[in-house]
Amino acid sequence: MESNILKRLREWFKKNAATLPWRPADLDAPRDPYAVWISETMLQQTQVATVRDYFVKWMKRFPDIETLAKANEEEVFRYWQGLGYYSRARNILKTAKIVCESCSQAHIARCEMPRTRKELEALPGIGAYTAGAILSLAYHQKEAILDGNLVRIFARFYALDFLPTDKASAGKNETGKNESCAEAYWKYARKVADTPKAYMHNEALMELGRTVCKSKNPECANCPLNGGCRALAEGRTGEFPPKRKSAQREWRGTALVVESADGKLLAVSAGQPFLAGQATLPHFEHSRNATAGIPAEAEAYFNADNIASIRECGSFRHGITVHKIECKVLHVKLTTKAGKKIDPRFNATWVKKEAAAKKFANSFSLKAIKLAFR
Ligand code: ADE
Repeated sequence: MESNILKRLREWFKKNAATLPWRPADLDAPRDPYAVWISETMLQQTQVATVRDYFVKWMKRFPDIETLAKANEEEVFRYWQGLGYYSRARNILKTAKIVCESCSQAHIARCEMPRTRKELEALPGIGAYTAGAILSLAYHQKEAILDGNLVRIFARFYALDFLPTDKASAGKNETGKNESCAEAYWKYARKVADTPKAYMHNEALMELGRTVCKSKNPECANCPLNGGCRALAEGRTGEFPPKRKSAQREWRGTALVVESADGKLLAVSAGQPFLAGQATLPHFEHSRNATAGIPAEAEAYFNADNIASIRECGSFRHGITVHKIECKVLHVKLTTKAGKKIDPRFNATWVKKEAAAKKFANSFSLKAIKLAFR
């Protein structure tokens, strides 16, 4: 992007930057690298509106990396509860401990995040994006970032008909070698960052992607880049970035075979993400690191006082559309007959065991039933 375009971007950002708890009023002020790390990690896969309150509460309880390093995982998870993707929280704690340990070994009085990409990317949970964000936003280094917002902006601005995740080559580079699609995008990102105000260009582009160059209905009339955007000039903003079939999604969870005293099985109407609207066994996702035993979510489907027995029946693998499923099965026998009230959220019915093959018309449920009664 040319310098006149970047100047317009900075002017736009100064006028339009949202007030956010991790963003100081003075947009030119270097920031606390710890706060940048926490906020940018929370912002991966989570909306700004959600992250706001989580970040404020987190910083009250863990105001610096030393306080965090002394915390236990259980408490850290509590402050993360609701943000999902708990491996992020686990990695944050691991990294805090590693960084503080190495600072104390080096007799550094005040522990702080490393200042090089190499050191940062060696830490758990810190990838190219987070490292670039810490180095540019906090330390004001000329380091690049690339997130979904920047990908969308570059794809439109340069009319790129490939995604960074595409496996094919994006073309030849200046030395005649094949260049990967990811590298082609990073090159644009580095060009933006190889400027005196890299920190501002990086953050302004994220903000622009979030508020103006949106996936749907981009507001091109208000965009500071509209003078150089190729997709806009060609009337093709809707075509970039190119759409791809969504990648495989992993789902790990539990299915419940809840059997009443008179031999009926509990069926519910499935919600998202798969089998929407179909009669299935109750099932729910749990985190990769869920502990053994009866998951808390199971208790919504029966009362603790009417359980005759609970048996773990093993697990099965299954695929539905993009979902790669690994499902445990619990067989729960009740002391009560079918018809006892189930939480109305689940739209539950009871199905005679003999009719199960007909009523549960999906192999996800049938595989689970087979495991329970084998
Ligand atoms: N999305 C992720 N990080 C962001 C930031 N620092 N500013 C605006 N949007 C973002």
